Order: sequence, then structure tokens, then C-alpha cells
Amino acid sequence: MLKDSERWGPQLELGDPQIDKEHQQITGQLERLRSLITGEATIETLIGSLAPLFEQLTAHFVAEESLFETQGYPEVGQHKKEHQEYLDQARMTLESLNQNDLGSFQSQLVQLSDRWLQEHILVEDKLAISFINAQESP
Ligand SMILES: [Fe+2]
Ligand SMILES: [Fe+2]
Repeated sequence: MLKDSERWGPQLELGDPQIDKEHQQITGQLERLRSLITGEATIETLIGSLAPLFEQLTAHFVAEESLFETQGYPEVGQHKKEHQEYLDQARMTLESLNQNDLGSFQSQLVQLSDRWLQEHILVEDKLAISFINAQESP
């Protein structure tokens, strides 16, 4: 069972409807993957769920980087590096599955989900969106 802090909820909304929607979709995918591990999912099923997640993550990061750049967010360079780290971790997660290593897959996935929620959404994007909102308000 996932804890509330590991699930989507209003505490994760940052006030940008498009970004919030994508965060919710990706968080939902991560939750689904985590619940698949506890079931009897085959490696093929897990790979089938992880591949689209990887694509969603990539698209989400590209969209965010373009928005943050357009808005003149000064930390965009650092933010891009952080995005790259999540993609690297997602790639390692997929790699564990390809190597049939479920133990490593599970720990990579838990790490990725935790960082996605606690760092990506609640720290890194929150800072960027607060910056943008401060620019926009008179
Ligand atoms: Fe994000
Ligand atoms: Fe981000």
C-alpha cells in the first residue's frame, strides 16, 4: 500500500494547470507501476508500462524547460541538469528490467518516485513556478 505522501493529492498542485495535469498523469503512472510490483506482473507488463512513462517524462521536461526559459527563470540551467538526472534514473530503472533484475528495478523505481514527488514537484518546480508567478503579478 502506498502512503498518502506517495500519491497524487492537492498538496502537489503548483497552480499551473498544464504542469499540474502532467504531474498528475506521471504520478499516476508511477503509482500504477509501484502497485504492479506487489502483484504478479511479468517483466513484459512492467516494461510495457515503463516505456510510455519514459516518453511522458521526456515530453514533460521539454515543455517545462521551454516555458521556464521563455519566462527568464534564472536557474533554468540547473533545472535542466536535474531533469537529466531523472531521465538517467528512469533509464536505469528500465535497464534493470531488461536485465531481469526485479530487486534493482524496485529500488530504482521507489527512488525515482520519491524524488519525483519530494524534489521535482515540491522543490524544483515549485521554485520555478513561484518565480514565474512573481514576475506576472504587478
Ligand atoms: Fe515538472
Ligand atoms: Fe521540472
